Amino acid sequence: MSNENLGDSVENLLTENRTFPPSAEFAAQANAKPEIYEEAERDRLAFWEKQARRLHWDTEWSSVLDWKPPYVKWFIGGKLNASYNCLDRHVIEGRGNRVAFHFEGEPGDTRTITYADLLADVKKCANALTELGIKAGDRVAIYMPMIPEAAVAMLACARVGAAHSVIFGGFSADSLLARILDADATLVITADGGFRKGAAFALKPVVDEALKSKTNVRNVLVVKRTGQETAWSERDIWWHEALARQNPEHVAQPFDSEHPLFILYTSGTTAKPKGIFHTTGGYLTQAAYTHQNVFDLKPESDVFWCTADVGWITGHSYVVYGPLINGATQVIYEGTPDTPHKGRIFELVEKYKVSILYTAPTLIRTWMKWGDEFPNKYNLKSLRLLGSVGEPINPEAWMWYREVIGNNNCPIVDTWWQTETGAIMISPLPGVTATKPGSAMATIPGISAKVVDDEGIEVSKGRGGYLILDKPWPSMLRGVWGEDERYKETYWSRFKDLYFAGDGAKLDNDGAIWLMGRVDDVMNISGHRISTTEVESALVSHEAVAEAAVVGANDEITGQGIVAFVILRGGIPNVGGEELIQELRNHVAKEIGAIAKPRQIMVVAELPKTRSGKIMRRLLRDVAENRAVGDSTTLADPNVMKLISEGLNSGKSED
Ligand code: WT7
Repeated sequence: MSNENLGDSVENLLTENRTFPPSAEFAAQANAKPEIYEEAERDRLAFWEKQARRLHWDTEWSSVLDWKPPYVKWFIGGKLNASYNCLDRHVIEGRGNRVAFHFEGEPGDTRTITYADLLADVKKCANALTELGIKAGDRVAIYMPMIPEAAVAMLACARVGAAHSVIFGGFSADSLLARILDADATLVITADGGFRKGAAFALKPVVDEALKSKTNVRNVLVVKRTGQETAWSERDIWWHEALARQNPEHVAQPFDSEHPLFILYTSGTTAKPKGIFHTTGGYLTQAAYTHQNVFDLKPESDVFWCTADVGWITGHSYVVYGPLINGATQVIYEGTPDTPHKGRIFELVEKYKVSILYTAPTLIRTWMKWGDEFPNKYNLKSLRLLGSVGEPINPEAWMWYREVIGNNNCPIVDTWWQTETGAIMISPLPGVTATKPGSAMATIPGISAKVVDDEGIEVSKGRGGYLILDKPWPSMLRGVWGEDERYKETYWSRFKDLYFAGDGAKLDNDGAIWLMGRVDDVMNISGHRISTTEVESALVSHEAVAEAAVVGANDEITGQGIVAFVILRGGIPNVGGEELIQELRNHVAKEIGAIAKPRQIMVVAELPKTRSGKIMRRLLRDVAENRAVGDSTTLADPNVMKLISEGLNSGKSED
């Protein structure tokens, strides 16, 4: 959705009347009680101080909050170590034998890793980082498959005070390089490769490709995962060799509450991704608090499974930091949900008796398409709570999740948040909230959000507008790495001193919040943010392309699909059109990564532009979604849309 049609779509009153109150049994045992809202409301800062006490602080903070919009500090003067809070504390308090991770590789290899095991590895890895000259304040790039070593690497960085920048393993060499340069990383931690869709894919060669350019990377630490042949140079070090020679002891030093913990890149409205920057005390506080209350975690008995990769914020907050601080037992799985069969996730739920499952609407819709026979083949009775994240969940998918996966017996938490918010902001509380299919319902205790109109005035019930956050929260981003102006411009310039989330939302007649999608030129593909501009610049970097316009078109499975309109350069014949289109799709994958591959590319003679030269994406979306083209009277050349509709040379593809 874009600005242009925000009004229409959000003010269409939804007719969803179903509501699901918590069962008495669930409510009786729930971590969250109704009074928690009142408690947070009464004294917000005291409430957050209480949440911060979940952590072990070597030095307590002297003041809670310093808010000079748009800059925030939380728990000022406090000192703590993130890795100590995730690991040492559990071992010291006698929980060393508890399983931290049940790891399942895609080929079926498994590992059971206790808190004591994880701590031992993290200590050795921290010593290895120190041996490689990594110091507090440095940046380390992590480019890994979804294997336990990814978490070990993150925690070892945190342990020595180096900020990690995890780059999802699906990104290309160019994307990796851009992120290495932007953060000025001096070490890359990677693996030879990983397993996906039944085969080994390579990562190390991508790192080698990226490092052909000049960077300040001194070493590459390589986990042996697949055993693939890989080129080797002087800067490369095998992980297993480096760790084997380390002293098993490592004492974690406390760092300031505002010490950088990580940078995580996300797409914005320009071609250059933003390095979202998070610090320690506030981030960990909110990650731990939300994980315990929103997922109702009972660490002694639950098995928690968040299906996200550590390359995304969800993997940071709800695979690594939140669950480990809370002493959770988790499942992590390397591969895809359809390998070797479409019941793989359900098979693992049965095998590990998963009780809490947190996944994305795109996967839920994919399961619906595959058919009920896959979940029905397995015993899913261990499940007691289900979560959803990444994009709006449509009521049909929500109901299917509830009935088929949850056996009508599990509360569903639809959790809204962002890379920038660091942790969950809007969600039902299980055992407290009566949920409506498709709504994230309300801000969690301690958080304040509003839906406002163009003037920044709060809309009334039954109406739509922009989602804003009007009070600072502990896990708030502290900035965009190295780009302060961009930080102010993107989040704080639309409305004075209000954080602009970039999402449209509406309030229903009961005041429940319904998220409606992005209002900027950011697409949401399978719950991942991709900028239209980024894909456009990848396309025009191909020699055959003169101009490109990209839109996110509705897609039944992925939420949105990338549809590109391109004008070819003069003299490039569109002969064998299909071949060129495939080449362009592959070119985008090479430039950005496979996740950004357009679903469809249409070669056109002209693009619809206003007199000021702005591309009217709304009209292109009409074409991409096979609708009658809307009002095009503001076009510089009113005939363009007719030309496009008539002369379409479409290239649809399945992968
Ligand atoms: C954008 C943030 C938060 C982790 C995953 C994505 C959309 C996220 C929901 C939800 C409706 C949602 C928003 C948001 N989004 N969760 N429950 N309902 N929309 O993180 O890549 O930073 O993307 O994802 O549009 O702005 P991200």
